[in-house]
Amino acid sequence: MLSITNLHAGYGKVEVLHGISLEVPKGQVVTLIGSNGAGKTTTMRAVSGMIAPREGKVMLGDVDITGRESHRIARLGLAHSPEGRRVFATMTVNDNLLLGAFPRFTGARSKGDIAADLERAMEYFPRLKERRLQLAGTLSGGEQQMLAMARAMMMNPDVVLLDEPSMGLAPILVDEVFRIISRLRSEGVTMLLVEQFAAAALNVSDYGYVLENGRIAVHGPAEKLKNDPAVQAAYLGGGH
Ligand SMILES: Nc1ncnc2c1ncn2[C@@H]1O[C@H](COP(=O)(O)OP(=O)(O)OP(=O)(O)O)[C@@H](O)[C@H]1O
Ligand SMILES: [Mg+2]
Repeated sequence: MLSITNLHAGYGKVEVLHGISLEVPKGQVVTLIGSNGAGKTTTMRAVSGMIAPREGKVMLGDVDITGRESHRIARLGLAHSPEGRRVFATMTVNDNLLLGAFPRFTGARSKGDIAADLERAMEYFPRLKERRLQLAGTLSGGEQQMLAMARAMMMNPDVVLLDEPSMGLAPILVDEVFRIISRLRSEGVTMLLVEQFAAAALNVSDYGYVLENGRIAVHGPAEKLKNDPAVQAAYLGGGH
């Protein structure tokens, strides 16, 4: 579904990704593991068009999306819930969610039942339901994080990129986020996931890639990575 080949990307003169390749097959959850600064967020930005790749190819299904503008990539069915919540502070929770469905209103994506999906999002995230008329900027950090995730789902995307959905959340909400991810997975949502809690991420994933200094060091089925002593020592110690 999402296929990345020999991707190079960076900022200014600095190259961060030195030719990475990875596949996210339809209906699977794939996790990208790596230390701070390894290039996980940069990978997601280069895929969703927030930065332009310097070399390589990104395919969304049959469509070459390499270097396209981010709003076009979104319309083609790729939703990106970026690192650090980016909600529209002066709009209500409800309006933020409807904005997530924007490509469906314009006909760029098939419309489906937007009202039903809105109710479904509220059911997934009961905290948002209680606060649906509250301005997003007045939500707590964790609530904003959930709103960003729910908004990405409102597009009814073919592929969703989730960059640290549990960041800044209290432990009980972290568990909640992983429950939601595994529920989405059971519904067949295709997802590329980055999570600080690598062990928990592997538990809800089919496959994983380890990114080290802008290169893929190891990859394999989630179960196998979880039991790989080198991966365990470097990335799976402690935490969730
Ligand atoms: N806008 C930017 N301008 C310049 N350098 C950047 C920018 N964003 C990231 N970088 C640099 O690119 C490298 C990779 O950053 P990236 O955000 O992709 O890491 P990451 O794997 O997501 O890390 P983390 O786990 O901390 O989120 C880092 O060295 C970072 O300093
Ligand atoms: Mg990051």
